[in-house]
Amino acid sequence: MLNKQIESLLNKQIKHEFEAGNWYLSMSSWADVNGFEGAARFFLEQSKEENFHGMKIFHFINNREGHAKAPSVTGPDTEFNSYRHLFERSLELEKENTRLIDDLVDAAREANDHATEQFLQWYVDEQVEEEELFRSILDKLNILGDKGPGLYMLDQELGQRTADLPGNGGETE
Ligand SMILES: [Fe+2]
Ligand SMILES: [Fe+2]
Repeated sequence: MLNKQIESLLNKQIKHEFEAGNWYLSMSSWADVNGFEGAARFFLEQSKEENFHGMKIFHFINNREGHAKAPSVTGPDTEFNSYRHLFERSLELEKENTRLIDDLVDAAREANDHATEQFLQWYVDEQVEEEELFRSILDKLNILGDKGPGLYMLDQELGQRTADLPGNGGETE
């Protein structure tokens, strides 16, 4: 059984995950409108992943006799300055989410809620991967350049990535 404080923090995290999903959806649309097919697809997959992260917490709360709340989600920006800006903003979002997950782990530990702490370990690992993903894309942008054939190549490569979701051949259970 979840204590009320942990339940409330987990519900907040559902909201953060869906908000991240909305940011990526917005980035996908901006990329599409600006002719970047690869990034449009990439961010759509990212958006699905974040919604999945939210749903995983949603089910966890109810499975532990809590009450999961469907979140009200605030609107993300719709305009971005450049292709690079999409990935800089993404890295910021992921770093912020890492801080939130770390705070949640601390709270679970303080409450001696071992099941929640264990559950959150998946998110700790996921955040390491997510930050690394966006850092590596920014590195590639630095190497290949953010216009002309270099950018086209990178965009094509990003379009190949599929979300790490059950049934997609990813590692996620
Ligand atoms: Fe996430
Ligand atoms: Fe993420």
